[in-house]
Amino acid sequence: MSEKNKEILTVGICGLGTVGGGTLSLLEQNAALITVRAGCPIRVAHVATRTPKPHLCGQVAQTSLDPLAITADPEVDVVVETMGGFDVAFEVIKRSISNGKHVVTANKALIAERGNELFALASANEVTLAFESAVGGGIPIIKALREGLAANDIEWLAGIINGTGNFILSEMSAKQSGFSEVLQQAQELGYAEADPTFDVEGIDAAHKLTIMSAIAFGIPLQFERTYTEGISGISPADISFAEELGYRIKHLGIARKTARGVEMRVHPTLVSNSRLLANVNGVGNAVMVQGNFVGSTLYSGPGAGAEATASAVVADLIDLARDRMAGVTNPVRPALGTTQADSSLDVLPIEQIEVGYYLKIPVLDKLGVMAKLSAVLQERGISIEAIIQKESENSETLPVVILTRVVREYELNAALDELAGLDEVTGPVTRIRIEPFDGEA
Ligand code: HSE
Repeated sequence: MSEKNKEILTVGICGLGTVGGGTLSLLEQNAALITVRAGCPIRVAHVATRTPKPHLCGQVAQTSLDPLAITADPEVDVVVETMGGFDVAFEVIKRSISNGKHVVTANKALIAERGNELFALASANEVTLAFESAVGGGIPIIKALREGLAANDIEWLAGIINGTGNFILSEMSAKQSGFSEVLQQAQELGYAEADPTFDVEGIDAAHKLTIMSAIAFGIPLQFERTYTEGISGISPADISFAEELGYRIKHLGIARKTARGVEMRVHPTLVSNSRLLANVNGVGNAVMVQGNFVGSTLYSGPGAGAEATASAVVADLIDLARDRMAGVTNPVRPALGTTQADSSLDVLPIEQIEVGYYLKIPVLDKLGVMAKLSAVLQERGISIEAIIQKESENSETLPVVILTRVVREYELNAALDELAGLDEVTGPVTRIRIEPFDGEA
């Protein structure tokens, strides 16, 4: 081992894109304050990037093209993985851990899908794998769940956890802008994933929900069992019908512990416009967490972008510096808040959840249609809470919008199959879940 100065935390950064670049800038700009808070300076000694950025790397001793070079650099105590992606990022994290280095990553996909394996490896090597920046951008939601609420039985959590999706829905609602135009803006602002279908189809949110659920309920990471539905099917008409009925459409990740199992689901959701969550707009993220002692809590802030995400990466680095200055050699915080994940809590299939529904049904504009639709729903015990039926001036079809009361999803599915078979129903029915929320926010 080299004769390193133990009073400096030395960092290598793999990937100098939005998050890596933001991290380097923050470490430089707030260096004095960070040194005081951390108890020692945090110095970036090595950066790996395919696109050299001399304006950012002036103080950095070494730059490499190959991120694996950092994993073997004896000068480096902590590897910051901000490349994203799967295979190379996995190899970087695995090799860094095996070489006894702590790792800080913003890679939610990797944590959600391969975290069980990586945390076991980190634990065996007595190093920390930290990931605050993987969920909620700048919001310290991992700390809130794992440390701040550690004494509570978490009953449920619900959040807007994809900045790009929230930006798109907010802009569509406020400016009646088209979907593709808004998506392009989100990409230009550095919010969107390299493959924006991850944002739009809910995969990115499902990664984050998987991570929060594991911490909240003490269960293993189970991305493959998280139900995922995107926002690409939401039309401006749905947004304005929902608003007419007193709701906003938000793309939510929801996790709930029920007597029948754990729900983990990401989908567009009608939220009453009197709720705080309905009023979180733009790239903002917000997560409500209901604990059995604390009650309902809400965490909100910027969920994506260079500065916000860098704030969370550097917070993890400061934690590591503090541990080191205190002489802690093993990680003090179990990565997911518990040393023994509970595999006995089953994940509830989506057909078993119980919520209300928004239905938009295209029907022929003729007498008796409403009675037929109501009969199909009533036969299955589905109560109607509200109906909107618009006059049609120049079309033979018109949309009927119905809000149902809470019903089990498989009953609703059966009713939708029946509705689809009616001659009066002229096209596919749009179905959006309505979250009633049993907390205060
Ligand atoms: N693409 C992500 C989002 C980035 O829009 O929320 C932050 O994880």
